[in-house]
Amino acid sequence: MIERRKWKAARAVAALGFITALLLSVSTARAQSLTGRWAVNGRTLENGEQDKAIVDLKQDGSRLTGTIQSLGWSTSVKGTVEGTHFELFGSDWNDKKPFFVGDLLNGEIQGMQWGNKISARPTTAADDFPKLPYIDPPALRKISYNGLAKTPPMGWNSWNLFAEKVDDQTVRTMADAMISSGMRDAGYIYVNIDDTWEGTRDAQGNLGTNHKFPDMKALADYVHSKGLKIGIYSSPGPRTCGAYPASYGHEEQDAKMFAAWGIDYLKYDWCSAGSIYKNEQLQPIYQRMGDALQSTGRPIVYSLCEYGMGNVEKWGADVGGNLWRTTDDIRDEWDSMMFNIHKQVPTAPFAGPGHWNDPDMLEIGNGHMTDDEYRTHMGLWALTASPLLAGNDIRTMSDVTKSILLNKDVIAIDQDSLGKQASPVKSGDLETWIKPLADGSVAVGVVNLSASPASATVSAKDLGLSKVKKARDLWSHQDVQFKNGAYSGTVPSHGILMLRVSAR
Ligand code: GAL
Repeated sequence: MIERRKWKAARAVAALGFITALLLSVSTARAQSLTGRWAVNGRTLENGEQDKAIVDLKQDGSRLTGTIQSLGWSTSVKGTVEGTHFELFGSDWNDKKPFFVGDLLNGEIQGMQWGNKISARPTTAADDFPKLPYIDPPALRKISYNGLAKTPPMGWNSWNLFAEKVDDQTVRTMADAMISSGMRDAGYIYVNIDDTWEGTRDAQGNLGTNHKFPDMKALADYVHSKGLKIGIYSSPGPRTCGAYPASYGHEEQDAKMFAAWGIDYLKYDWCSAGSIYKNEQLQPIYQRMGDALQSTGRPIVYSLCEYGMGNVEKWGADVGGNLWRTTDDIRDEWDSMMFNIHKQVPTAPFAGPGHWNDPDMLEIGNGHMTDDEYRTHMGLWALTASPLLAGNDIRTMSDVTKSILLNKDVIAIDQDSLGKQASPVKSGDLETWIKPLADGSVAVGVVNLSASPASATVSAKDLGLSKVKKARDLWSHQDVQFKNGAYSGTVPSHGILMLRVSAR
């Protein structure tokens, strides 16, 4: 079973509500064992189908272990029990908080998952998931480069803020805002619809849209008419992470349909493919859709979403990928953002024009980090040549958010044609990241990881430059002077000092 974090997907699932908790009296409770198989009836999806999950638990005294398999995702869990009360954590998730807290009362589990009420009952045979026929993966071959994404893709994606609430109107108004805010002209070209657009398959196997997207072709035409490009989402498994129908067994058919709609970008998310294939089979499975996309003849950016599994950086480009996830889902929190960018460090040698490492989409402007932390988020994504996919509400963003996302000096570092991914050269509380640029100059970022402001010194020697001709602070947009081969500046807590330094 694939062990992985499905924070955003699962939170969206929970947000729409598993069945309401039964009101049972605590006074009648007595300690029972949680060991066994539990069935969770899921929410009603936007296409009218029903989500569900099977939870296998083993209780050993006060310790719990087990697995969760929902239609779209699965994970190993661990937890603790005290009397009737218990808590569950993802076994290998980077999260200190339990995702589920609840009680076993009178043979039923009831509790809160990410703040939403759920309940579960012992399974019966009828709860088993249908077994789908296994389709052999294709033989490996190298797919030629599609010529796209010569610099890291830039745009907007619906997931981080809207999750299941995205619809046609949201996408249209977001496209309008990409223009009025200046995002399009700054290079943010792709408007990407993430999970939850899907309807059901008809008798011919054609996948329709659900009521939120009445006419995908018309929506694509609208987005194109604004000088923007449009992206969509699917999975190589039978279901997406949000439990919607996905491309398993329909890869070519779906790719043709995407092309016919005018889609320019596909994010292809592993999700339930993990219930059919092993991690070792990631490469041929991603190759299958890479082939299908190229067979359409339409230029479509191919974004692999496999949470950094399977050493994807080593083969992502061979399957036709233009970018691939190096990490699990980002959250709008400093620790999560820094965890993701640090996890990306070993992949640096594999980034380059046409094929990029992806530490997940931006959270800038979503409200749970400070402005300095968001500047660091933008700065580090730019230094590491990561895709810049805004995840906030472009229609209502504040001036500070605009000044971060639209910082042309920082965007130029991300979009530099040399395509090098910065690595940290100095660790400690002041972490220094250096990125060589196409014109021979060097971008440097010094991140202050400590809780107080600190003075940072950047020396020409650290940058590999014999002498400095020009240095520009990329947040104040002012030129600064190196004295005796060094420049010192104050960096706020969790902030970033960013310079572009040239010797010529
Ligand atoms: C996750 C993915 C997220 C989002 C979500 C949709 O697996 O990492 O970025 O696409 O699924 O269900």
